[in-house]
Amino acid sequence: MRLTFRLIISLLMATILVVASFSYFQSKNEEKRLNEELRLRATVLAKSFKEAVESFLERTDQPDRVQKFLEKFQGHKRLVGVIVDMKDGLRLALPTELVAEDLFKKESLKVIDQNAPIDINSKWAGRKVNYHAVPLTKGDDLVGALGLIHDRTFIVRQMREFWKQSAITFSILAMILSIVSLFVIRWSVTGPIARIAELVRRAVGGESSQASKALQDKSDIEKLLYGVSHMAASLKAARLDLIEQSRIVNAEGTIWTKERLKDYLKSKLQGKQLYVISNREPYIHLKKGSEIECITPASGVVTALDPVLQATGGLWIAHGAGDADREVVNKENKIRVPPWKPTFTLKRMWLTPEEEKGYYYGFSNEGLWPLCHISHVRPVFRIEDWNYYREVNRDFAEALLEELDDLPPMILIQDYHFALLPKMIKEKRPDAKIAIFWHIPWPNAEAFGICPWQEEILEGMLGSDLIGFHTQFHCNNFLDTVDHALECKINWSSFEVTRGGKTSVVRPFPISISGTPNIEMQETGKDPLEPLRQEYGLKGKKIGIGVDRIDYTKGLLERFRSIERVLEKYPYLVGELVFVELGAPSRTLIGSYQDHLKEVEKLVEKINQRFQKGNYKPILFLEEHHGQKKIFDFYRLADFCLVSSLHDGMNLVAKEFVSAREDEEGVLILSRFTGASYEFSSALLVNPYDIEGTAEAIHQAVTMLPEEKRERMRKMRQIVKEYNIYRWAADMITALIKSF
Ligand code: G6P
Repeated sequence: MRLTFRLIISLLMATILVVASFSYFQSKNEEKRLNEELRLRATVLAKSFKEAVESFLERTDQPDRVQKFLEKFQGHKRLVGVIVDMKDGLRLALPTELVAEDLFKKESLKVIDQNAPIDINSKWAGRKVNYHAVPLTKGDDLVGALGLIHDRTFIVRQMREFWKQSAITFSILAMILSIVSLFVIRWSVTGPIARIAELVRRAVGGESSQASKALQDKSDIEKLLYGVSHMAASLKAARLDLIEQSRIVNAEGTIWTKERLKDYLKSKLQGKQLYVISNREPYIHLKKGSEIECITPASGVVTALDPVLQATGGLWIAHGAGDADREVVNKENKIRVPPWKPTFTLKRMWLTPEEEKGYYYGFSNEGLWPLCHISHVRPVFRIEDWNYYREVNRDFAEALLEELDDLPPMILIQDYHFALLPKMIKEKRPDAKIAIFWHIPWPNAEAFGICPWQEEILEGMLGSDLIGFHTQFHCNNFLDTVDHALECKINWSSFEVTRGGKTSVVRPFPISISGTPNIEMQETGKDPLEPLRQEYGLKGKKIGIGVDRIDYTKGLLERFRSIERVLEKYPYLVGELVFVELGAPSRTLIGSYQDHLKEVEKLVEKINQRFQKGNYKPILFLEEHHGQKKIFDFYRLADFCLVSSLHDGMNLVAKEFVSAREDEEGVLILSRFTGASYEFSSALLVNPYDIEGTAEAIHQAVTMLPEEKRERMRKMRQIVKEYNIYRWAADMITALIKSF
C-alpha cells in the first residue's frame, strides 16, 4: 500500500508541475491578449473622442460647455472615466469628481509635452484600470490631452476564472490518474510483487512465527526483500552445505557404501525399524546328512536385499523353505543372520503344502510370473490358487503387524508374491510407510488385463505409498494398467495414482548389487582359478559362462542354439570353446519348468554329441545349486558371460559378472530384453531369439582385442560401482519418506 501511495503522490506532483506551468503560460498569453484588445479598443475610442472634442473646442472656449459635451460620452462599455487636461492646467472630467483629483495629471502632461499618445495600466478607486491618452489640438496648436479610463477588473476576473478552471481540470485529471495508477500498480506491480513475495516465502519454507508477526504490517516489497534475502541466505547455506558434503564425499569417495547407507538411514529412520518382506528367504538351512548347512538361494531379491539389511539391520520376514529351517529358529521363529556375522533378524513363516502349492507354485509362479514375462508360456489362473494367495498374503500381513511397535514403521515389500499385502497393512496401520518393489517386468495393460483378479491386485498394490519398478517403461505400463482397470486419478507428470484420497507414487529404481562379493579371498600365491580349470578340463580353452535359475524366461534353449551355431559357423572353435552353464534348479514342481528342463537337457545332449571330441564337450551343464564362491570363480575364469533372457526385470547376473571382473577382461553378451541392457550399452547387446546374431556376438567376444574388452568393461564397472544396491536402497527410502 505504501508503494502505491508513494507512486500516486509522485505522479500527482508531476501532474501539478505540468498543469501549473502550462496554465501559467496560458494565463500570461490570455492576459496579454485581453490587454491588447483593451488597448486597441481604447485607441479606437480615443481617436473618435479626440475628433469630436477637437471640433467642439474649435467652436467654443467655455469650459462648462465642454464639460457638458463630455457627458455625452457616458454609457460606453467598460469606459469608466474621461479626462480632458488643458495646457493651461484646466481639467474637465467625467465623472466630475475627477476634476478635483490629480489622477493621471502627470501622464496628461507627458502627452502634451511629447505630443504622443500614452497607454498605461494603473489603479483607481480600488480597481484596476487602463489609461489611454492622446494629444488635443486646436488648429495647429497643441492645447491639451484627452484621456480615457477603462475598467480592467474584467481581465483580473477572467484570469481568476481561468485559474479556477485549471484547478478543476487538474483535480479531475488527478482523480483519473490516481484511479488508473491504482489499478495499473495493483495489476502490474504490487500484485505480481505480492505473488513473488509469497512464492519466495514458500520457497524458503515460510518464516518463523516471530518473523511472520514482524512482517505482518510490512509492504509486499519489504516482504519480498525479506524473502529474497532469506533465500540468498539459504542458497549460501546450501552452497556451504554442498561444499561440506562434497568435502565429505571427496573424503569418502562418491560411492555409496555399506557404512554410508547405515549412517544415512540412521538419520532418516530416526530409531524406526526397517521391515522387509519377501517370499524367498535370504538364508536357507538344509540337512546334509547329519549336518545342517546354510546356503544363499539363487534369487535376485536376495542378491539385492541381503547387503541392504546387513548394512541397516532390521527384520526380514520370509517363507522358511529349507528342510532344516525349523530346527534353527527360536520360539518366535526368528534367527539372527548371516550366520557368520549376525546383523539382522530373519523371521520365518511356515506354509502348509497346500498353501505353497496354491500361493507360490500356483498363483505366483504359474499365474503372475508368466503373465508379467513375455516368454510365451501361458499363465494359468485357478480360483483355489488365488484363494491361497490371498490367505498367505493375509498371514504375512498379520505376522508383520504383530511385530510393529508404536512408531510409524518403514516397510519394504518385495515382489509379485505380495501384491495384496500393502493394502492389508495400510488398513491396520495407516501411519506405516510402505513401498512395494516389483522385481519382474510389468506388461502392457492389455496383457495384464487377462488376469481375472487384476482389480484386487492393483488395489492391493496401491495400498503402498511408493511402487517401484526397474525401468520407467514398466512404471508406464503399470500406470496404464491402473488407468484401464480402476476408477482413479493419474498424474502423468508426477507419476502418481490417487484413489479414494490415497496417493501412491510410481518410480523406477534400477536394482543393483553390492559390488563387493561376500567371499573370503585367500592369498595363496597360486592362481586361485587353477583348481577350477583342472576340475572341469578347461585349461587353454575359450570359456563362456551362464548363471541362471533354470527358468524358461532365461532363454537357455536359445543360448545353447547360439553356441551350436557358432561352432557350426566357426569350426576352428570346436575343441576350443566351452560354455559352462551353472543352472540352479528352480520351481521344479511346476509342469512348465519340468518340461523346459527336459527340453534343455535334450538340447545340450544333442549339441554335445554333435561336437564331442574325446573328452571335449562344448557345453557343461552343471545342474545344481552353486555356492557364491564357485560362481564368483567362474565369472573370473570366463572369457565371456552370456545372458540371454527372453524377458527380465533387471538380471543381476550381468551386474555380478561385471563386478567380478576386476581385471577388466571378459565380455558381457547381454539380451536387450533385460532391464540391465538399459544401463549396459557397452555390453554386446543381442536379441536372444536371433540365433545367428547371438552366434556372431559370441564369435566377436572370443576374438575381441584386449583393449576393446577393457574399454567396454571399464564403463560397465563404473556404472555398477556408482549405482550399487546401497544407492538403490537410499534412493528408494528417500523417495518413500518424501512420498508422505
Ligand atoms: C526372481 C524373483 C524373485 C525370486 C527369484 C527366485 O528373481 O523376482 O522374487 O526370489 O526369481 O525365484 P524363487 O521362486 O526360487 O524364489
